[in-house]
Amino acid sequence: MRMWEGSGNQAVMMKIAVIGLGKAGLPLAGVIADSGLEVVGVDIDERKCEDINRGENPIPEERGLDELIKRHGGKDLIATTEYEDAKECEIFIIIVPLFTDENNIPDYRIIESAFRNVGRLLKRGDLVVLETSVPPRTTEERARKWMEEESGLKLGEFYLAHSPERIMTGFSISRLRGFPKIVGGVDRESGEKAFEIYKKFVPNLHLVSSARVAEFIKLMEGCYRDVNISLANELFKIANELGVDFYEARTYANHEYCHIHLPSTGVGGHCIPVYPWFLVKEMEKRDKFGYAKLLRTARQINDEMVNYWAEKIVLECMKINKPLNEVTICVRGISFREGVKELYNSRNLALAKLLSEKGLNIYVYDQFYSSEEVWEMGLRWIEPEDADLVFDSFRLTLERRNK
Ligand SMILES: NC(=O)c1ccc[n+]([C@@H]2O[C@H](COP(=O)([O-])OP(=O)(O)OC[C@H]3O[C@@H](n4cnc5c(N)ncnc54)[C@H](O)[C@@H]3O)[C@@H](O)[C@H]2O)c1
Repeated sequence: MRMWEGSGNQAVMMKIAVIGLGKAGLPLAGVIADSGLEVVGVDIDERKCEDINRGENPIPEERGLDELIKRHGGKDLIATTEYEDAKECEIFIIIVPLFTDENNIPDYRIIESAFRNVGRLLKRGDLVVLETSVPPRTTEERARKWMEEESGLKLGEFYLAHSPERIMTGFSISRLRGFPKIVGGVDRESGEKAFEIYKKFVPNLHLVSSARVAEFIKLMEGCYRDVNISLANELFKIANELGVDFYEARTYANHEYCHIHLPSTGVGGHCIPVYPWFLVKEMEKRDKFGYAKLLRTARQINDEMVNYWAEKIVLECMKINKPLNEVTICVRGISFREGVKELYNSRNLALAKLLSEKGLNIYVYDQFYSSEEVWEMGLRWIEPEDADLVFDSFRLTLERRNK
């Protein structure tokens, strides 16, 4: 077990639990272990835990994670499905998903279960940090209540903070080691305690005044991206309608005070399309619908991009000398973002499904998915060279192979 210098100058044993070893949690657990601390990772996925303990990385697309798991997996990073195995830890970092339902309302069941399980292990002086992005005030209200109910302790006897995960899948390790990370406590002592601990493995760390501010920072960032992508999408459609080369115009429009983003098929993944809803729904609850108008509109513009591209694809098919339903169309790229194997909220997958529902002869290709995996999604796989028309969903190009 590793030692660290506590505030009283005496050497103190410290073990950290990371709850949730997914695309965000596992790189974090690896980085903590690599900084010389002992980590217990808790995840409900038994196979994933077995892989990690054998030194095998279950997220191969994450740069640098292979080495970290090989070096620490099963040694100073132990993965387990049992919360009980983390009972000796003093620090608990929770990074499990928060999904939203079909009405974009957050479903807290997974987070609540993680907190309640940790609450049962909590001892006086322990610190719990939530890293999952959540609606503002979740840490100080819901998380605090769950912890107090399960542990029988009161805030002040334990510490509670929020530190939003700001990684990007594929680049998580370099982000954790370089990108500014934020931490804020439910009370001043919690913020300071979390800052002191996180400083041991996060070099670029900033303490903010509260958990509420820390939560809001992450949501602001997501809203900024969503709104700016919707602006790029809108300008892209207008430019095309006017016969203007959007990309040429963008090159010269962008400068210190103007950053037009890139257009797309919409916005996917766990984060950006979800966070604006946290704020929109919260404002609705408070009868302040008008406060989040722009966020709502941006969501709608981005979601509707699949219809725009479907129409473009159909128009291009009609230029091919074949009956429409015989033109083989390949949607190249179904992940929500290039370079990752992740379909959550993927607008590229939604586009392929929409075209298929319209009765078109749709196939897909993605370097990360085999023909069997594609088949399980209810779609068919093709090599782009064998299609009449290829839509590259990352480059937004339409290429007619059969003239
Ligand atoms: N992936 C990213 O790029 C990213 C970026 C920023 C923030 N985040 C935040 O991280 C959160 C998690 O994202 P992720 O990409 O790691 O998700 P993920 O789906 O890759 O991983 C979640 C992990 O949690 C485990 N899990 C589920 N329920 C559990 C429980 N009750 N106890 C223990 N483990 C449990 C799952 O088995 C899985 O391994 C997101 O909701 C988001 O708030 C992610």
